[in-house]
Amino acid sequence: MNQPVEPPSDTGQGAHRRASRRAHRRACLTALAALPWIAQAPRARAQSDGSLDVPFVTTPQNVVDAMLALAGVGPGDRLLDLGSGDGRIVITAAQRWGIEATGVEIDPALIERARAEAQRAGVAHRAQFIEADLFKVDLTQATVITMYLLPDVNLLLRPRLQQLRPGTRLVSHDWDMGDWEPDRTVLVDAPDKIVGLRKQSRLMLWTVGGPQSARPMR
Ligand SMILES: C[S@@+](CC[C@H](N)C(=O)[O-])C[C@H]1O[C@@H](n2cnc3c(N)ncnc32)[C@H](O)[C@@H]1O
Repeated sequence: MNQPVEPPSDTGQGAHRRASRRAHRRACLTALAALPWIAQAPRARAQSDGSLDVPFVTTPQNVVDAMLALAGVGPGDRLLDLGSGDGRIVITAAQRWGIEATGVEIDPALIERARAEAQRAGVAHRAQFIEADLFKVDLTQATVITMYLLPDVNLLLRPRLQQLRPGTRLVSHDWDMGDWEPDRTVLVDAPDKIVGLRKQSRLMLWTVGGPQSARPMR
């Protein structure tokens, strides 16, 4: 989980996929930018091609706790938070559940902030942060993956997520995985949520090859 993997060499199909991903993301961000919460949210550093995958918006602490409870984290788990922001999911997993946890974040300022917070919390030995593009890191060592991303980003991750070891749990805050049926969905009151009109978060759990997905994940 520690080492970012190199991006695959450029192919016509890969270039096409990235171009269409950029176009879709631009459309999503343009639409979302009209909302006050996005306009106010600090933005991740733009990538070299000028694109941005997801803005920085934090998961309220009680929702972080609910995500980790939904994942059923426990001894031996290795958690990976894709787009780790200020590190709160990773730090909570390391501090309250005592597990190894890693955050992947593209914004170096957020990486620095998360590392400082992990130090303050006394869990820097269990909570690591990698400055990298979440599309380019190795996911295979994680037993639990948490995400607070955007719908199109979740969809782009599906091909890699479905190849993970059976039993790997995936938890997403608010955004689904298209037509993948969650094993469980919970609604959590989120009075501190800074986005959306309803102060509520929807959390979804999928287990790779799990009970609800006896049929292969599509
Ligand atoms: C909605 S925030 C979620 C933060 C944190 N996981 C939480 O739930 O509180 C999404 C994060 O993804 C980061 N991000 C956006 N694009 C990324 C990329 N391609 N690779 C890694 N991180 C990215 C943003 O900088 C932002 O911090």
